[in-house]
Formats: sequence, C-alpha cells, structure tokens
Amino acid sequence: MDSFIIRGPSRLKGSVNISGAKNAMLPLMAAAILTEGKCVLENVPDLKDTGTMSELLRGLGVDVEFSDSRLFLDASKIESEEAPYNLVRTMRASIYVLAPLIAKRGHARVSLPGGCAWGPRPIDLHLKGLMALGAKIEIDHGYIEASADRLHGAEIILSVPSVGATVNILMAAVLADGETIIENAACEPEIVNLAEALKQSGAIIDGEGTSKIVIKGVKEIQPFNFRVIPDRIEAGTFAAAAVITGGKIEIRDCEPDHMHSVFDKLSACGAKIELSQNGFTVEAPEKIRSTEVETGYYPSFPTDMQAQMMSLLCLADGTSSIVEHVYPDRFTHVPELRRLGADINIDGRVAIVNGVGRLAGAPVMATDIRASSALILAGLVAHGETKVLRIYHIDRGYERIEEKFAAIGADIRRISD
Ligand code: EPU
Repeated sequence: MDSFIIRGPSRLKGSVNISGAKNAMLPLMAAAILTEGKCVLENVPDLKDTGTMSELLRGLGVDVEFSDSRLFLDASKIESEEAPYNLVRTMRASIYVLAPLIAKRGHARVSLPGGCAWGPRPIDLHLKGLMALGAKIEIDHGYIEASADRLHGAEIILSVPSVGATVNILMAAVLADGETIIENAACEPEIVNLAEALKQSGAIIDGEGTSKIVIKGVKEIQPFNFRVIPDRIEAGTFAAAAVITGGKIEIRDCEPDHMHSVFDKLSACGAKIELSQNGFTVEAPEKIRSTEVETGYYPSFPTDMQAQMMSLLCLADGTSSIVEHVYPDRFTHVPELRRLGADINIDGRVAIVNGVGRLAGAPVMATDIRASSALILAGLVAHGETKVLRIYHIDRGYERIEEKFAAIGADIRRISD
C-alpha cells in the first residue's frame, strides 16, 4: 500500500492546472449506457475511480478506451445488467448504472453500496424516484433487482436535494414516456454538466442548475461528445493549500463561477483572490483569520471542502466553528489532525477548531478522499515528517496530486510500504 512522506513546513508558490471533475465524469460515463454508438468524453481525469467505472462498464459489455484525457465509450453491445458487489463496494457512484440500465434495457441488478467511512449514506431517494417512474424494485441477497417494461413520467419531490438521486432520476426520465418533474433537485454544476450532455444528445430538459428540473421523455438518446467540467473541489483544495502554507498559487483551467462559497470563506480567512483569464490566483494573508463555516447543498459551502477547510482553520488566529449539515458524521479526519497537534472538539455535527501556533509531523491515516487531502494540507505545514498512510483513497479522486504539489514547492513523495 502506498503512503505519502511530506516534509514541512513549506510555502507553495507557482501555478497548477486543474483536472476534470470526478463527480461530473462518473455520471457522464454511466449515461453512455443510454446511447448506441461511440460517446467521447474530453478532459477526463486519470483516477482510480475512472478505472473502476471503466471496469464496471466493461463488465456490462460497454467498449471503453481511455487515452490522453479522452474516454471513448460504446454501449451498442451490452450483454449484462449486473453491477457486482466487488466493484460497487469500492465506489458508491457505481449506483449510477442503475437508472440507465432500467431505462435502456428494462432490467438492472446492482449491488447495494452499503455504508461508508463516515455514515450510512442511504439510496432510498434513488429507489423511490425510480419506482415513481414505474420501475419495480426489490432487494434480494444484497442486490437491487429492478425492472420496467416502459418508464413513465412522474412528479418527484426529493426530501433532500441529493446529487446521486437527481442523477439517477434524470437519466431514467430522459427515456420515459411523458413529463417528469424533479422538485428539490440538486443544483450542483455536475448535474448541469450531465443535463447539457444529454441535451446535446436529444434529451429535452429544462431547469438544470435550479431546484426544479423538467424532463420530457424522448424515444432515443444519441451518442455524445462532451467535455467534463473542471474539478471545483480540486481547485478549492489547492486554494486552501496556498492559504495554509502562506503561499501564492495561480489555479488554472478551472471555473471560478462554481466556487463562490469557497472564495467567500477563504476571503473571510484573509486570503486575497484575484480572477484571471481561465482561473484565479490565491494569496495567503500574514495570519489566517478564524471564521465560521457551514456546509450545505450547492451553492452553499461544499461538504467535500470541509476537511480541507478544517486543516486551514487549525492554524487560524482564534476559534472557528464548522457545522456539517450534509453528512453529520463526516469528521473521521479529526482524530488524525489531532495527532498533528490540532485542537478540535466535536459536538454532534459541530466542530470547534481552536487555532494552534503550529502543527508537528506524525504518521496519520487517510479514511476517505477529502480527509486524505486535508491531511496532506496539514502535512505541508507541520514541522518535520508527516506520513499519510492509505492514500489509495486520494488516488480515487485526485489526479497526480503529489506531482502537482511537488511542482509548486512541496516536499512530498510517494513510497510503497
Ligand atoms: N441522502 C438520502 N437518501 C438518498 C440519497 C442521499 O437521505 O437516497 C442524503 C445523504 O445521506 C446526505 C444527502 O442526502 O445527507 C446528500 O447526499 P447526496 O446523495 O447528494 O450525495 P451523493 O450523491 O452520494 C455526491 C458526491 C459526494 C459528495 C456529495 C454531496 C459523487 C460521486 N459523490 O454524493 O462526493 O460529498 O454528493 O455533495 O458525486 C467525494 O467526491 O469525495 C464525495 C464524497
């Protein structure tokens, strides 16, 4: 198993190019199942999750080729409708094949994802939405067995604006008879990216990016040729790295328009943010100011930036608070940050972070993608050596992260234990 060895403290300076967004790419890959012919995705990050979704699709009979940030997907010859446990358990987004398989093939057998490191992460809203569209769903021996002769439109009100449920319902509704309305839909840019690709392929969708999406079913979806949006969480992670290390980084190939809530909080900490032609530059303040952060659904502050923000606030002047509204238990990074000298108290979904003068390097263990990047940020400023174990999590969601960090001045290397 690989680990990172980081020697700190370092001050990051330079520029970094942001990759395509994992969470936009995964639904787009699954959406290829709705089509017959060659789909092309551009700006695809080379991640572990790209490989896992490719393997899952290949298992269904989809022809998948990846070369030079481009993915070619041809779902003309699907021969299986099963997503097996051994893949779904390593990547929850495998559930994205459920809706397109039902819509296109009339049947799907997809393993239930199970829990994750920070809580149960249910999929009830995906299933209720698909049932409202006419799918018959049973749970059998840990698998979702779903079938439908023909899906029909429905009005679906989500009790929470779930990204995953919105993705699955959208992908089913494009091939359903009649009109579907998703109320309280997720508004994330990744949903807009998916809707735009589907629209390019003949789907009729209105309202993506708002909480009410209206879909008029069509008979078929043509193959798409589409570009994955830049990863706003990767961009936010590097922005936080500039601030925590007292540095200045130009963050290129990204979409600042997707990052207002992150900019607001980094500015509240004293960072200077300047927009540039295809990105922005972030410069650290003399001293990081404490602030209050509450995560929420887009456009609120993303839960996927909570851990990185926490690392930053560990070094702020004074006491900060972080309220986690999306996943109340998403604090598995806290005991690891404490090992580096952080002073953090958790009370339910609230973390109180008392700024400390400095962090000291130690071995720490990554528990999920974002917790891992938070530990890297802390390791960059911690005095001495930090070893981040179990970095397979980070390889799921960040492309060549150590190369990108090393190029802007970090002392970081990968070792195989
Ligand atoms: N929820 C339900 N029932 C459902 C689905 C969700 O109660 O059927 C609840 C969840 O428990 C949670 C909230 O709704 O409290 C939001 O969950 P959501 O469904 O939006 O999350 P997701 O689709 O499973 C995606 C990202 C996550 C990101 C969340 C929130 C992908 C592949 N994953 O997950 O990304 O944290 O949205 O923005 O897009 C990551 O990239 O590291 C990551 C975890």
